[in-house]
Amino acid sequence: MAFCMSSAAALPLVRSVSDLRKVVAGWRAEGLRVGFVPTMGALHEGHLSLVRTALQHADRVIASVFVNPTQFAPTEDLDRYPRQEATDAELLASAGCGLMFAPRVSEMYPEGFSTEISVGGPAEGLETEFRPQMFGGVAVVVTKLLNQVTPDVAVFGEKDYQQFLVIKRLVRDLDLPISIIAGATVREPDGLALSSRNAYLSPGDRIPAIEAAAYAEILAAGFDAVDYVAIRRAEDLRRFASDRVDAPARVLTAARIGATRLIDNTGV
Ligand code: PAF
Repeated sequence: MAFCMSSAAALPLVRSVSDLRKVVAGWRAEGLRVGFVPTMGALHEGHLSLVRTALQHADRVIASVFVNPTQFAPTEDLDRYPRQEATDAELLASAGCGLMFAPRVSEMYPEGFSTEISVGGPAEGLETEFRPQMFGGVAVVVTKLLNQVTPDVAVFGEKDYQQFLVIKRLVRDLDLPISIIAGATVREPDGLALSSRNAYLSPGDRIPAIEAAAYAEILAAGFDAVDYVAIRRAEDLRRFASDRVDAPARVLTAARIGATRLIDNTGV
């Protein structure tokens, strides 16, 4: 089995699905519960808190580190997306992760790969209006990862709240026997949600805490443009029937600083 220890971290690292399955089979033979945290790497405290959340529900946690090309449009930041595998391995080990799965693109998308998954419902609108390719790519890679890892539970960050609901719907619709758990958003002291893409921001780009609920307030705080601010039902992202917010709600926003596009949301 091609199974290496990632340098200083002493965290086992596998790159192939067959090696991954052998590790999981060993844990299953011991009667252990398996948790899973999918990531695109460039890890920060937000990801580590997802690992800790997974450890509350499982005996062993696997984190994947894979910058998934199918969820990026050709014009987006696939090439410059931050990559720091050795550091990621150390961080994962420090959080108690038991295995890092870092497949190559050819392992995930071999020659001739031609399957697409289209999710409706919560995938409609909001992010899809601005990144129409994204949830299709996320749906394919997450379905593959869940089938490869076969975890009992998987944890997704609430920061990407629409993605979280898309995954829940996908897992329900496709009868995948996996509990999907939300991990709370971790914020900087100034309120900015932790994101791997925050690495693109220069100190001068940093803005005050963002709980704004209106375009004008976000623009006034320093963003160049706002793609949307929407108050929706937290459960399914449907619009409220009237102006009255009569059920748990989520304020979701996407805004741009220079070439960097960020999303955020908060419960109200
Ligand atoms: O949220 C992310 O980091 C990615 O969309 C995910 C879920 C790892 C799929 O590539």
